[in-house]
Amino acid sequence: MTDTPLLEVHDITAGFGAVTVLHGVSFEVPRGSIAGIFGLNGAGKSVTMKCLAGVVPTRSGSVLFDGEDVTRMSPERRVARGMGHVPQGRQVFPDLTVEENLRLGAYTLRRRNRSRYQAALDGVFDRFPVLRDRRTQKAGTMSGGQQASLAVGRALINEPQLILVDEPSAGLSPVATLELDAVLQEVAKTGVTMVLVEQNIAFGLSLVDTAHLMQTGTVVHSGPVAELDDQTLATHLGIGRVLQAAAGSALAARQAPRPKEKARARRTA
Ligand SMILES: Nc1ncnc2c1ncn2[C@@H]1O[C@H](COP(=O)(O)OP(=O)(O)O)[C@@H](O)[C@H]1O
Ligand SMILES: [Mg+2]
Repeated sequence: MTDTPLLEVHDITAGFGAVTVLHGVSFEVPRGSIAGIFGLNGAGKSVTMKCLAGVVPTRSGSVLFDGEDVTRMSPERRVARGMGHVPQGRQVFPDLTVEENLRLGAYTLRRRNRSRYQAALDGVFDRFPVLRDRRTQKAGTMSGGQQASLAVGRALINEPQLILVDEPSAGLSPVATLELDAVLQEVAKTGVTMVLVEQNIAFGLSLVDTAHLMQTGTVVHSGPVAELDDQTLATHLGIGRVLQAAAGSALAARQAPRPKEKARARRTA
């Protein structure tokens, strides 16, 4: 069982009214790894994430989580099963405090096991000390980087096996992006499996083990980051020299280890 991928997406389609947006999206995410989804604006990345979270219905195909078919399962039940979602735009409630945002995120956990909530809250505060310091501050008055930490913390409070993170770096300063990078690396080290969507390709590639490139509602390339080249990125995303430009940076270092070894190291860490 542990050798089956944690997440299997089989040929899913989705759309709105008469418009089909996803034309058969397939990929798999091994346990303990980070999968990246990259593509131009409108390619269907967020709709894919919403199908995985259950907030947009999947019209055909299937989504298996930990071997179980969750295709028709409600978002709440998916959260209870161990799937967390950090939606695009972070979607924190600006007029609620940090702690109130976390409480809302934890509502399925509180319903299942009230006593675990305090421990889970402490766990998030330990991982994000800034959230403990600002627990009574209104979320809308915090910086973008702090709100990103809150959005990730809110997903982690349910102690998920998998988190779906949609464009966490959007609108962040370079410094805040570096802090976010450290946070997501830290989360990955605890063994949480991740699906990451990023417009900032260099940032995204520095984090992920496997890259899935999307074009108009379908995955056109899947493979380990270590084997990705500028030609593939240029062909599918119309961008040049991301990898060359990133030489000497975290991404270059990231391309050195073999993804499998890295994923294994993470799981045992
Ligand atoms: N709620 C919606 N109603 C109608 N069309 C939508 C809706 N959400 C997304 N779309 C369309 O689906 C396509 C893919 O969107 P999206 O997945 O958000 O793209 P991205 O890859 O930039 O995240 C776009 O053409 C978008 O206009
Ligand atoms: Mg999007």
